[in-house]
Amino acid sequence: MSHQEELASLITTEHGKPLIDSRGEVAYAAEFFRWNSEEAVRLRGSVGLAPSGANQILVHHPPVGVVVMVTPWNFPAAMITRKLAPALAAGNGVVIKPPKETPLTALRIAELLSEVGVPDGLVNVVPTTSAGAWYDAAVAQKATRMVSFTGSTEVGRTLLKGAADRVLKVAMELGGNAPFIVFNDADLEAAVEGAMVAKMRHSAETCTAANRFFVERGVADQFTEMLGAAMAAVKIGDGFDDGVTLGPMVNPAAIESIGALVSAAVDEGASVVTGGTTLDRPGYFYNATVLGNVQPTASITQEEIFGPVAPVVPFDDTDQMIAHANNTEMGLAAYVFTEDLGRGLNVAQRLESGMVGLNRGAISDPAAPFGGMKQSGLGREGASEGIYEFCETQYIATSW
Ligand code: SIN
Repeated sequence: MSHQEELASLITTEHGKPLIDSRGEVAYAAEFFRWNSEEAVRLRGSVGLAPSGANQILVHHPPVGVVVMVTPWNFPAAMITRKLAPALAAGNGVVIKPPKETPLTALRIAELLSEVGVPDGLVNVVPTTSAGAWYDAAVAQKATRMVSFTGSTEVGRTLLKGAADRVLKVAMELGGNAPFIVFNDADLEAAVEGAMVAKMRHSAETCTAANRFFVERGVADQFTEMLGAAMAAVKIGDGFDDGVTLGPMVNPAAIESIGALVSAAVDEGASVVTGGTTLDRPGYFYNATVLGNVQPTASITQEEIFGPVAPVVPFDDTDQMIAHANNTEMGLAAYVFTEDLGRGLNVAQRLESGMVGLNRGAISDPAAPFGGMKQSGLGREGASEGIYEFCETQYIATSW
């Protein structure tokens, strides 16, 4: 944390996100070290009695070995430390491939680790622009015992195939398509505030980002108007400029893909409440956008937008809405806003999603198990669960 400003400015330089988000990311990244340094002494095994009563069963959790980590550009620091901290706490060595878009933060973190006494060779950062060849070589090494990846489901599938040849342990944090559900009885101001966090944090380039806003008919117009006003007020620009809360997208392909999803939604009957355009200036800027009256089956509801676009889908029937919300191969995050706690819990439990924010737009927390169901991933990061991902389980049969 004493390097927060330096690291934040490195993140904004290579990623583009607003400085306020970069500072937040450094704090988030650092918290994984604090949490896992405390967890290091809580790696519990067990001693159990065999059913016959004749002997004890000892179970403990040694480190898995060398872990290959492939990390994404959207969180240049935190998506490294969320893996690295528990892996080290469990006793492993690591080789990290940072993304080609944001290698500098990764290298600086490695340098800082070295300065605080992490032994040479334990944490290795190897940037490359030849990701495929790098990965094939890394998983072919005899010492490699695990692959931990955060990124798209498409790339995750390829990495899983590569890991299969050597039957490596895997942890995968993959894509999302989060529903954000607002019932008639919700506190609308809180819902809009939650929506802005769930949609827009870190320039809307997060896999937990709210991707489809299912809003009950009675408040759909009001919510759309309020969200439209909040999105229209977003200051877009250079992440270093004062007051900016939305930076550029990562590359030209990103704004093309966002633009294509918006055009398709409009062709399928959606209205543009605000935004819907790129900025007329150099850089890959896409305006904060709200689409109204989106059909529940519109193509934009089936894709991970990874940009500042909020499609609002009005609904009348809760069962039907839940069916639409679950009608995706993704199952990472979801959000529910209602003043009826019983209904909130019931709907949360019916959503096929690894994480649910109930009247909250912020769900990421180093003390909570982050991860998805279905094709959104395998395993969990953070919490007590996170450290066990980087462990083996060994059972020792005793004769006493
Ligand atoms: C991600 O987008 O991959 C992670 C988001 C988070 O940790 O909040």
